[in-house]
Order: sequence, then structure tokens, then C-alpha cells
Amino acid sequence: MKLNWAELLVVNNPMRVFEQRLEIGWMKRHSQLSAGGSILEIGCGRGAGATIIREEFSPAFLCASDLDPMMMKRALGYTRGRNRENISFCAADGLNLPIKARAFDAVFGFGVLHHIPDWQGALSEIGRVLKPGGIYFLEELYPTLYQNFITKHILLHPEGNRFDAFDLQKALESTGFSVRASFEVKFAGILAVLEKSK
Ligand SMILES: C[S@@+](CC[C@H](N)C(=O)[O-])C[C@H]1O[C@@H](n2cnc3c(N)ncnc32)[C@H](O)[C@@H]1O
Repeated sequence: MKLNWAELLVVNNPMRVFEQRLEIGWMKRHSQLSAGGSILEIGCGRGAGATIIREEFSPAFLCASDLDPMMMKRALGYTRGRNRENISFCAADGLNLPIKARAFDAVFGFGVLHHIPDWQGALSEIGRVLKPGGIYFLEELYPTLYQNFITKHILLHPEGNRFDAFDLQKALESTGFSVRASFEVKFAGILAVLEKSK
């Protein structure tokens, strides 16, 4: 689901870049992902995360994708003038990635799953494109944060089939992911480094 005006303000600002820098630093400290690999980011938005991932993980290839073609345009604009060597941008639905199975060493998803009505389907798709032992870096929010009595009137998210910490953990396990590290703010959201079974 595409973002409405309010969430565009939330994600397209320098505070969000600062937050992602801290989160990606934490993710790096909790993984041993080698440089020179292949990385996919789904729901990359305007591409700020992709530029930080590139700096921190030095992949040989980084594909940054988003459902919304307008976001892809923003990403090309945002990264112009910044070093975007090895980053390619493509419009793609996280539920149906035009990518062969077991293609990537790592997948990043920042605040994307909770925008996808069939988020369990998106988890399977992430599992499909990851190599065995590949790493899924996740940042997610819970409905108590984005669909409470105030935010439900301001932000736009799918109704129904939402997940909290328990639902997410169960779905990750049944998709074949194990937790390497996680940091949760109760009822708000989670950062996690997950490994696909070998
Ligand atoms: C909350 S924004 C996060 C953007 C960026 N990752 C960040 O953290 O600043 C969620 C992004 O997911 C994208 N998105 C929503 N549904 C999607 C889907 N089915 N497949 C891929 N991307 C999707 C939206 O267009 C939006 O750019």
C-alpha cells in the first residue's frame, strides 16, 4: 500500500535518515555479513536507507526496490550527487519479486511489512529470494503505534490481518527464519537480524 501525505512527511526527513543510520549501525554490529555480497532492499522509499546500507556493508550489488514508481523517482533524485555506485533501483511488489530464487545474501526491509495486506506472503517471498543462511534485516512497527485512536485517523495502512510481536515471531519461525539478534520496544516495534535456515 502506498504512503499517504502524513507518512510521506514521517519518512522523508533528516530525522528518519538519522534513525536509519543508528539502526543500520546496530544491524551491522549484530551480523557478520561480508563485503562484496548481493543485497536487496524492499520498500526502499526515497533511497536514504540504501545509501547507508551501501556505505556500511560495501556490497558488490545492491538492488533497492519499492512498489511505488513515484518513490523510485524520489530515490533517483535523492541519490543523485551521492555515491550510488553499485546501487540499482527497480519498482517491484514485495509480494511478487521479479527475482530468481536464492539470489541474495541479504534482504533489508524498513517499515514495509506492515504496509502489505498479505505480509505473511511477503515473508515467504523474502525467504524465497534469500540464499540458505542469508540474512533478513527487519524494522517493523505494531498496530498499537500506527493504528491507535489518533494515528488511525492520520496514517493509512491495510485494515485486518495485522501483526503484533507474537504473530510476527510465529510467522518468521514458520517461514524458516531464526533470530540472531533483536531489539524490541514493547507495543511499538522491533529491529531484528534473522537468518534463513541452511
Ligand atoms: C513506511 S515506508 C518506509 C520507506 C523506507 N524504507 C524508510 O524506512 O524510510 C514503506 C515503503 O514501503 C513501500 N511499499 C508498500 N507496499 C509495498 C509492497 N507491497 N512492496 C514493496 N514496497 C511496498 C511504500 O511505497 C513505502 O515506500
